[in-house]
Amino acid sequence: MRKLIAGNWKMNGLRADGTALARALAARHLDAGPDCELLICPPATLLAEIAPLLAGTGIALGGQDCHPDAVGAHTGDISAAMLKDAGCAYVILGHSERRREHHETDALVRRKVGAARATELIPIVCVGETAAERDAGRTLAVIGAQLSGSLPALAGADPLVIAYEPVWAIGTGRTPKQHEIADVHAFIRSELAKGTPRAATVRILYGGSVNAKNAQDILPIANVDGALVGGASLDAQAFWTIALAAGD
Ligand code: 13P
Repeated sequence: MRKLIAGNWKMNGLRADGTALARALAARHLDAGPDCELLICPPATLLAEIAPLLAGTGIALGGQDCHPDAVGAHTGDISAAMLKDAGCAYVILGHSERRREHHETDALVRRKVGAARATELIPIVCVGETAAERDAGRTLAVIGAQLSGSLPALAGADPLVIAYEPVWAIGTGRTPKQHEIADVHAFIRSELAKGTPRAATVRILYGGSVNAKNAQDILPIANVDGALVGGASLDAQAFWTIALAAGD
């Protein structure tokens, strides 16, 4: 399966620097595209402006969250249809920062996945343990519960992406050991296989302190089908180096 390298810009980027970054990536991609799929998820304010900059490059656009309802009185929220209308093909759902800062539960994430699917956006559903959960030996139990709670029935043919993001690895410069990543990704694959015969086609991304240096060690690990990159995705050269490592 071709790997997917996704940049989650989080709450970073004003019009000037956000469009400059998108233009820099678009120019590189047109010059010589890497042997992987690329996706950037800028802040919502930049989506409509960046969409035309990516047109024809093969770089996809994604949102960072959506509301579970299709429309209505939800001040400050964004619907899946609005993301689609702005040019998105993907949406990140259940990121640990949203679970923590906005008290998002598995049940809410599951409804958001339904909303994304109804709009034909590809959901990237994030799961991952805290440091305390890992230390207590509960990593797989926590991830199993997040998967079963956050995913609707998987019978359909709708595409789906899972991102394994250990909470303690996000923005810290720390990453799990290679065999720890392999264990969790194999577990996620086997959990998915319980619900769908097409588990082998679901991309499972690793996220958490992926950078230009460690990408070449992380991306070849079994069942790692790409990366969800935070900080390093804000630097065109670093993001590009990660993308090139995905094609090796
Ligand atoms: P960092 O790459 O900055 O650790 O962030 C990872 C992340 O949360 C991507 O969604």
